[in-house]
Amino acid sequence: MKTKALLDFCDSIDATALSQTIQSIKWVVPAVQTVHILAIAAVMSSILMINLRLLGIAGTDQTVARVAGRFGPVVWWSLPLLLLTGATLIIGEPARSLANDFFQLKMFLLVSVIALTVYFQRPLKTNPNFWDGRSGALRVIAVLSLILWSGIIFAGRWIAYL
Ligand code: HEM
Repeated sequence: MKTKALLDFCDSIDATALSQTIQSIKWVVPAVQTVHILAIAAVMSSILMINLRLLGIAGTDQTVARVAGRFGPVVWWSLPLLLLTGATLIIGEPARSLANDFFQLKMFLLVSVIALTVYFQRPLKTNPNFWDGRSGALRVIAVLSLILWSGIIFAGRWIAYL
């Protein structure tokens, strides 16, 4: 989606002093991208550990609640970092991302996977045994989660090629 209002908004961000500063200091974008990628590594490794447990492939000597309690916070703490670094990249080159179909797809997938993760984690707060005996549902959640996170990575990389 590329409306005139969106492109005008991108131009107005582009004209700000902050955007001009990001654009003029050459090392800022690669440095911020490096932090973005490190945060992606933290999220994806934690997501993988949780989902392998949900699929019954790894960590089966620990309860679902314990694995989620161990790796979940890494996901939640990495997201603000991804938001901050992502926002910096956007301010530095607004039209490249905001008006890019793959960026918009990535944000849609991100909101979807956050909703799915909340749906999975919320019941564990009040009842750590909530998912016991619901291995079918856990498998569906794990497969959906892996597809959505992989889609986010794919869309994130594609931004550069559209
Ligand atoms: C939280 C909000 C996020 C925002 C606002 C955001 C924004 C951005 C932006 C602007 C870029 C640069 C694209 C380009 O110019 O080529 C980018 C790259 C990327 N993002 Fe995000 N992002 C966010 C979260 C995430 C998450 C959660 C993931 C995956 C776990 C992710 C994965 C990627 C990948 C794989 C790239 C490509 C990196 C590269 O090729 O250097 N992003 N993101």
